[in-house]
Amino acid sequence: MAKTQSRFICQSCGAEYRKWTGRCDGCGEWNSIEEERVESGPKAAGGIAGGAKGKTIEFVALEGESASPKRIISGIAELDRACGGGLVPGSALLVGGDPGIGKSTILLQAVGAMAAKNKCAYISGEEAVDQVRMRAARLGLEKSKVDFAAATSLRDIITTLEASNHDVVVIDSIQTMYADTLDSAPGTVSQVRACALELIRLAKRKGFAVLLVGHVTKEGQIAGPRVLEHMVDTVLYFEGERGHQFRILRAVKNRFGATDEIGVFEMGDAGLVEVPNPSALFLADREAPVSGTAVFAGLEGTRPMLVEIQALVAQSALATPRRAVVGWDSARMNMILAVLDARCGLPLSQFDVYLNVAGGMRVGEPAADMAVAAALISAVADAPVPAETVIVGEIGLSGEVRPVGQLESRLKEATKLGFGNAYTPKNGTQGKKKLSIKGLNQTEIGHLQDLVNLFGDDVRDKVRPREGMY
Ligand code: TYD
Ligand code: MG
Repeated sequence: MAKTQSRFICQSCGAEYRKWTGRCDGCGEWNSIEEERVESGPKAAGGIAGGAKGKTIEFVALEGESASPKRIISGIAELDRACGGGLVPGSALLVGGDPGIGKSTILLQAVGAMAAKNKCAYISGEEAVDQVRMRAARLGLEKSKVDFAAATSLRDIITTLEASNHDVVVIDSIQTMYADTLDSAPGTVSQVRACALELIRLAKRKGFAVLLVGHVTKEGQIAGPRVLEHMVDTVLYFEGERGHQFRILRAVKNRFGATDEIGVFEMGDAGLVEVPNPSALFLADREAPVSGTAVFAGLEGTRPMLVEIQALVAQSALATPRRAVVGWDSARMNMILAVLDARCGLPLSQFDVYLNVAGGMRVGEPAADMAVAAALISAVADAPVPAETVIVGEIGLSGEVRPVGQLESRLKEATKLGFGNAYTPKNGTQGKKKLSIKGLNQTEIGHLQDLVNLFGDDVRDKVRPREGMY
C-alpha cells in the first residue's frame, strides 16, 4: 500500500534531506529547505531486476530519417537566433528571467506572430484574461489567432492539450501550475518538477513545442530550480538592467543549436523591438574621445559585439576605498587592479574605483580584461584612449596579455563600425600567424606594462599619494 512520506528538499538546488536544516549543504543557501510530501509504495522495494519483466527495447542506427528537425519560425529574428534557428516541434524551452523583465511580453509577441501559420496556445497562471487582452491590444496583437486561457490546474491543461492539436504552447509560468496528485504547494520543487515533466512528456508525444516561463531567484537561478534546466531542451535567460530599455535573450543550453547565442531587444511602449545591430547600440553616444572609456571587441556566441567600458577613478576619503562594478565581474576587476599594482607599479589602493559597461550589457568574457585595464589606466592618467580604437585581450596574473579566440571576427566587426585601430594580444589568435585586416592598424601588446606606457611616462606620477595624506 502506498504511504505518504515527508522529504525535506532545498527549493534552490533540489538537494534532499531526511531532516530539516537551516542551511543547504548543496548550494549554501539559508532557509531554503522545505518539507514536501511524497507517495512511496512497496513497488520500489525489490528493485526493477527483482520484479516483473519489461518489454525489450529496440536499438536503431544513428543515421535515420529524422535528420534535421523542421523548425517553427517565430518571425522575430532575434528570438529565432537565440533558439538556434526557430522552435523545434516536440521540444521544451525554458525562458527564465527576473520578474518584470519582459518574459510574458516576448512570448505573447512570439505566439502572436506565429499564430498566422501555426496553432498557438497561451496559458497564463499569473494574469487574468482582461490583463492579457489589454497587453495584446497594446502590442497590436488583438486580432491574432492565439488561443488564450487563464488556468493553473495541470490536470485540466493536460486534458485540454491532449484533445487539441496545437503546434506551440506557452505556459506562463511553470511555478504557478499545480498538480493535484501532490500535496505540496505550487512553486515547490516537487510541483515544478512534476508539472514540467508531464507537460514535456505530452509535448514530445503530441509533437508541439512547449515554452515554459520560469521565475528566477535573486541569485539568478530558476527557482524550483536547476532540475528544470536538465529536463528541457533549450534554456533561454532574459536579462537586462532595470533602468535600461535593452533586453538580452541569452541561450545557456541548447540541444538544437549553439549556446551563448544572444538576441537583443529594446523595450518600448509597443513591446519589445528587435535590435539588429547591437554594437551600434552598446557604444554610448560617442563624440570626442574622453578619458576613462575603452571599447571592447567582444563576442556573444557567434556574434561579435562592441561594447564600451567606462571607468572612474577618484581620490577616496574612506579607509577602505569603494569598488563598484556594473556589468562585469567585480572579482576580476580586483584582479586587474592587483596586477596593475604588482606588475606595473600602478597602485590604485587609495582611489575609489567605479567600472560600468555602457548600455546595460553584461560582459562575461575574460577577453575584456585589457579593455578594462585600458579604461582604468586612461581614467588615472586622465588621457583618453586614442580615437577609433578597439581593445581585446585576456590578462594573466604576471601581467602578460594572453591570446583570445576568434580575433578575426571581432576585428572585422570593429572595421565595419569605423574603427581604425586595435590593441590586441601578441601573436593574435591562438597559435596562428599575425592577422592582417584591411583598414585596421593593429598594435600588439605583450604585457600590461606596454599598455601603461602607451599612456605616457607620467602616469605613475599621478598615483603618488597626495602630500599630507599619509
Ligand atoms: P512582463 O512581460 O510582464 O514581464 P515578466 O513576464 O518577465 O514578469 O513585462 C512587463 C514590463 O514591461 C512592465 O514593467 C512594463 C513593460 N512594458 C513596456 O515597457 N512596454 C510594453 O509594451 C509592455 C507590454 C510592457
Ligand atoms: Mg509575466
